Amino acid sequence: MSSATSPIVVIVPGAFGTPAGFDEIIPHLNGLQTHSGAYPSCNPPDPMNATCSGDTEALRSILLSLLDQQRDVVILAHSFGGVVGGCAAKDLDRDTRKAQGHTSAVIGLLYVAGNVTLDGESLFEAVGSAYPPFIKQHKPSKGLCLIEPAMEILFNDCKPDPELEKSVLPHALRAFETKASAPAWRDKGFDGRRTYIRTANDNCNPLPQQDAWIKKSGVKWNIVNFETGHMPFVSQPEALGAEIVKFVDEVMKL
Ligand SMILES: *[C@@H]1O[C@H](CO)[C@@H](O)[C@H](O)[C@H]1NC(C)=O
Ligand SMILES: *[C@@H]1O[C@H](CO)[C@@H](O)[C@H](O)[C@H]1NC(C)=O
Repeated sequence: MSSATSPIVVIVPGAFGTPAGFDEIIPHLNGLQTHSGAYPSCNPPDPMNATCSGDTEALRSILLSLLDQQRDVVILAHSFGGVVGGCAAKDLDRDTRKAQGHTSAVIGLLYVAGNVTLDGESLFEAVGSAYPPFIKQHKPSKGLCLIEPAMEILFNDCKPDPELEKSVLPHALRAFETKASAPAWRDKGFDGRRTYIRTANDNCNPLPQQDAWIKKSGVKWNIVNFETGHMPFVSQPEALGAEIVKFVDEVMKL
């Protein structure tokens, strides 16, 4: 069971969604506390103002405010959240924080079908400077994009539910087309503290692409395999919750 010394799980959603889309895992977290790691490029009032660095700064200030409350943090990053979460956690690992005289730290990175970018690279460059056909550009308006058909691409193994389709929000293209900064997962401070959940039936981040991301990272991840589509948060919340609890237990012992 979780306690006051348990880390807070910061949920960093993928593009096109909010942490509310992860609600079904909450009852399966054995009491672990969660916190929203939402960032501004999802459905923004001014999509031309969105940047990957703006997202990174927004999430980093959430992380720092939790660390300032002497809480350790585990990052649960999904899809594009892997880019934002990786950048935002830079130098917040245990070793670096300790050297700076802090007792709290980001103690684990748990990626679910996460996208990966290197220092100075945009996600758009990382996907080969061409969007997959299901990303509909400048929809519903200029500077935004949508995923269509959402049920087939994102929720292929979920029970059909009109609410799922409605949960997909427009995302600012500029978040994908502006540069990401240096990712935390590259650092030694996260050795033994990174897990990547591969989603085998994923129509959005197909498995070979996930493997390419893992390889490109150049660092060792503990690999966990799920037989799900892109949203195990919805299709297998119990199994995913158990995996999160297990990961938190493991990194707390390090
Ligand atoms: C642009 O984004 C910055 C933060 O990234 C924010 O402070 C500013 O208010 C935004 N401006 C507009 C016009 O939305
Ligand atoms: C993340 O990467 C996958 C390929 O693995 C790609 O299909 C998807 O478009 C990328 N995400 C975004 C938001 O572009």
